[in-house]
Amino acid sequence: MSKQFDVVVIGGGPGGYVAAIRAAQLGMQVACIDEWKNAAGGPALGGTCTNVGCIPSKALLQSSEHFEHANLHFADHGISTGKVTMDVAKMIARKDTVVKQNNDGIQYLFKKNKVTFFHGRGSFVKAADGGYEIKVAGKDEESITGKQIIVATGSNARALPGVPFDEDKILSNDGALRLGAAPKKLALIGAGVIGLEMGSVWRRLGTEVTVLEGMDKFLPAIDEQIAKEAKKSFDKQGLKIELGVKVGDIKADKKGVQISYTNAKGEAQQLDVDRLIVSIGRVANTIGLNPEAVGLALDERGAIVVDENCKTNLPGVWAVGDVVRGPMLAHKAEEEGVAVAERIAGQHGHVNFATIPWVIYTSPEIAWVGRTEQQLKADGVAYKAGTFPFLANGRARALGDTTGMVKFLADATTDEILGVHMVGPMVSELISEAVVAMEFKASSEDIARICHAHPSLSEATKEAALAVDKRTLNF
Ligand code: FAD
Ligand code: NAI
Repeated sequence: MSKQFDVVVIGGGPGGYVAAIRAAQLGMQVACIDEWKNAAGGPALGGTCTNVGCIPSKALLQSSEHFEHANLHFADHGISTGKVTMDVAKMIARKDTVVKQNNDGIQYLFKKNKVTFFHGRGSFVKAADGGYEIKVAGKDEESITGKQIIVATGSNARALPGVPFDEDKILSNDGALRLGAAPKKLALIGAGVIGLEMGSVWRRLGTEVTVLEGMDKFLPAIDEQIAKEAKKSFDKQGLKIELGVKVGDIKADKKGVQISYTNAKGEAQQLDVDRLIVSIGRVANTIGLNPEAVGLALDERGAIVVDENCKTNLPGVWAVGDVVRGPMLAHKAEEEGVAVAERIAGQHGHVNFATIPWVIYTSPEIAWVGRTEQQLKADGVAYKAGTFPFLANGRARALGDTTGMVKFLADATTDEILGVHMVGPMVSELISEAVVAMEFKASSEDIARICHAHPSLSEATKEAALAVDKRTLNF
């Protein structure tokens, strides 16, 4: 007889592993199946985020930023270093250590919370025993049943048609995070989040980077004023971003990659580089899940169809994270995982899509929550705007990083905060205050009246809130 669980979670990324822990905390018997393998073939819990996404990219961004600071900014502080060199192999090894710490951390959390872990591929077999039979293929060959199933199988990098990833010359995020040396010339296709983050890493290490973007606008989804400010910084740093291109033939050989494209003026161009990273978005992953066996509905893009509560078309089957609609973000996946576990337990789990923050970890960092100025205009909402530049913030001056600004958008009548947009130092941390404020339906005056520590970057948040009412104190 197969092992029986209250909940079986398929996928151990941020959506899946967090759902498993929360369900176990709520007193359920939980299994989590994940197929990711580390270099030695062992389990590597944490999914894309931990293995080839959020965590390793931030490790490389940190290392390369230290390198850039040592090269360009230490002298301003009176520190002389002599020639600064970067050992790329060591940087990558450090990144691998950080990844492993996170992998091991999740295994520990599973033990602590009594989640049974299966290393292998989970696939639907049939509806059975008031639930579903799931086959686990891999090191742990098993057949298990779950009364409730949570699918959290994530996403994969989208390839250009006819240009498969070889992870040597033509790289997805996976290969991009394991380059053994800084290439002389690197191209990225797609100036989205990965294009900007990975482009920044390798540019800082001395690579000549060109980012080719199909849209004629830079980061069209973010607030235009913030996008403009960010683009100015990237241009100054030498990150070459070409907008409005149409990519044509791509050929790879031993020497490198040859890319033909048409630029925004319609002129034919040829770009020869050592490596190419394709970062044109990601696609929902249901490879090997066997959704057909139980009639689990997918949409035309291959994502699992869910309602606002992450319920699929099948009773007792839920899906969360990158494999369903919505932004492909680790914290969105986690929130959905927790909410589903709580709903299964009869509680009222909820996810507020209107207050999910976004962060791009470049330098300057870009962060936002809520609606942009262009969205408010399109929605016909009367609003007031307030901005405050880091140039006028004492802590930013002391840090030596005064790029960027904080921008508030508030309802013209009620003053409720509708969006907060930031570009500048450490805004990945500052954005949390805006998220809390929006969750509590705060007004810009609420933030303006709160005492913020001095000197701190967060004073720019308070000042931007004051700016909504045209009464900044330091600008
Ligand atoms: P995943 O993390 O993809 O996990 C799915 C897991 O399921 C994987 O381990 C997979 O092996 C396993 N699996 C799939 N099918 C099966 C099966 N049939 N049986 C068993 N196991 C299976 N987001 C952020 O919020 N912040 C960031 O800074 C950030 N940086 C990123 C950087 C990069 C380079 C990339 C590529 C992504 C980044 N993301 C970031 C996005 C983030 O990684 C994803 O949104 C997040 O990992 C989605 O979580 P998930 O649990 O839905 O899926
Ligand atoms: P993306 O959606 O952020 O950007 C893709 C870019 O490629 C877009 O600007 C698009 O216009 C462009 N594009 C698409 N097809 C093209 C083509 N044929 N030619 C030229 N340009 C083309 O996707 P990306 O960067 O691949 O990242 C995938 C997802 O991973 C992100 O959307 C995000 O959800 C997640 N992620 C999050 C991070 C974070 O939170 N800091 C970091 C990295 C990834």
